Amino acid sequence: MLVFVLHGPNLNLLGTREPDVYGTLTLDEINARLHDLARELGVEIECFQSNEEGELINILHAAARRAAGVVFNPGAFTHYSLALRDAVAAIGIPTVEVHLSNIHAREPFRRRSVIAAAAAGQISGLGIESYLLGLRAVVALARKRAGDGS
Ligand code: DQA
Repeated sequence: MLVFVLHGPNLNLLGTREPDVYGTLTLDEINARLHDLARELGVEIECFQSNEEGELINILHAAARRAAGVVFNPGAFTHYSLALRDAVAAIGIPTVEVHLSNIHAREPFRRRSVIAAAAAGQISGLGIESYLLGLRAVVALARKRAGDGS
């Protein structure tokens, strides 16, 4: 089973970007932890990062062809990208929205996610644990859908 992990805009700067909000782990370190967990769960993951909406949409389309689920941190697109919301709704595989910070405890504009209604669920505010729990959730949902215990 293959799962895509998709990081949106500015997440390539993790480690130095507002460390008081997003922590000090780099994106490579987060991806390494996700690879460790994937091994433990017996699944494969491919990790992507893009600062561009259209590229994120194309990767979601590729996920529909190749993957069983998606862990998705849409970054600031969370709050306004209807095109990404529609892509998540269109692909028909479980997508879990994740955020490092608690978007519900920050500025008012961050409290609304236009993606959430199209996602299987949202995990927010737990730092890297949001991603790790997101991967566990996607794998569980995808296995349930496939009707197997693989
Ligand atoms: C974020 C939260 C968003 O509001 C912000 O624009 C990001 C990161 C998070 O992981 O906490 O870029 O998605």
